[in-house]
Amino acid sequence: MISAEENEIYVRVGPGTPAGELLRRYWHPVAPAQELTDEQPTRFVRILCEDLILFKDKSGRVGLIADHCAHRGASLLYGRVEERGIACAYHGWLYDPAGNCLECPAEPAGSMFHLTVKHRAYPVQKFIGLYWAYLGPPPAPVIPRFDVWSRKDGRRRIAVHPRVDCNWFQTMENAVDPAHLPILHQELAGGRERIVTGSGGFVNQVDHTDLTVCDYGIMKKRVYKSGLIDEHPMIFPTITRVNNSSEIRVPIDDTHTMNYEPFFYPTPDGSEVDDDDPVVVYLPNFKEPAGGMHPYARFRWDMVSSQDTCAWETQGPIADRTRYRLASSDRGIIMLREMLKENIERVQQGLDPRGVIRDPDHEVIDTNLTNGLEYMKQRGSAQLDYEKAISRY
Ligand code: FES
Ligand SMILES: [Fe+2]
Repeated sequence: MISAEENEIYVRVGPGTPAGELLRRYWHPVAPAQELTDEQPTRFVRILCEDLILFKDKSGRVGLIADHCAHRGASLLYGRVEERGIACAYHGWLYDPAGNCLECPAEPAGSMFHLTVKHRAYPVQKFIGLYWAYLGPPPAPVIPRFDVWSRKDGRRRIAVHPRVDCNWFQTMENAVDPAHLPILHQELAGGRERIVTGSGGFVNQVDHTDLTVCDYGIMKKRVYKSGLIDEHPMIFPTITRVNNSSEIRVPIDDTHTMNYEPFFYPTPDGSEVDDDDPVVVYLPNFKEPAGGMHPYARFRWDMVSSQDTCAWETQGPIADRTRYRLASSDRGIIMLREMLKENIERVQQGLDPRGVIRDPDHEVIDTNLTNGLEYMKQRGSAQLDYEKAISRY
């Protein structure tokens, strides 16, 4: 059990909060790139408790700036994009993607007033079909080249999950919880033997689990009595890597989280493919009504993701960890909490936290994708079929 004060450290993501400042040291996806078009050049983004507008100006540059105009607060979502940026619909203050104010048209001719205005703006990059943002202090690090995002011998597909209506840290505790797979996901992830009891799922087929700290996070290993091994890393602080995918959890605010999931499908002959704009699919809502705030009841139970989402959301919008009864199978939860606190301290000391990379030419990072693909092959998984995967939704 922990104190309510300690729980606050894990869950708050706004500016100036301990975890919020840590999370601002990493790039996060904010939208599928295909969502910005000439017809719809602006999009609302809420991330880490900040309301922002993503826009593409007429010269093709993409910016992410504070939603409320610096003049008198109208939303820039309704701004007009121009060659040089986005102009507020109300009085036309024009901002470039760096947040510089270039014009205040209602001011007298020759006025230099616009030079005194600087609007909050964050750098944006397009990578694997998503726009990514960095909300931390400059200079920004690089988006790490993990194997699942960067290998050239295959294609990618991005699944955009429905919004998760709970705090980000619940979704990450799940990533270091090897005990739940044979139980929560027993109908979908089982199939090795007939399941005898529903309460224990196929837990009797697991010989043991291991959790070890690695450079980029925590490696979670499950060894089955059959000799089969699966190893899924948690990439600190927001990514869980399973088989051929990586789920990137993006805190929207303290009680909502996005989940973007790039999948990798190797080409059968190992040939390289141009894959800059992967297919994006939107998973159906896991609960009814689609935007319902109450997470209970009428979940879809036919997907692993809906099962996880049900577990996370029913822990509450912000889980009350003062009431948890951690058991021996929860070792990963403790490891993750320790890792989070340790890296919050690093940030407070002015150091880079775990996994922040600054060398643009760094080697592709091996997150065990090869093992994941091998595991899927051994299980005869149909989920490695790219054509089937993109036709599913
Ligand atoms: S409120 Fe935006 S220009 Fe006036
Ligand atoms: Fe799960």
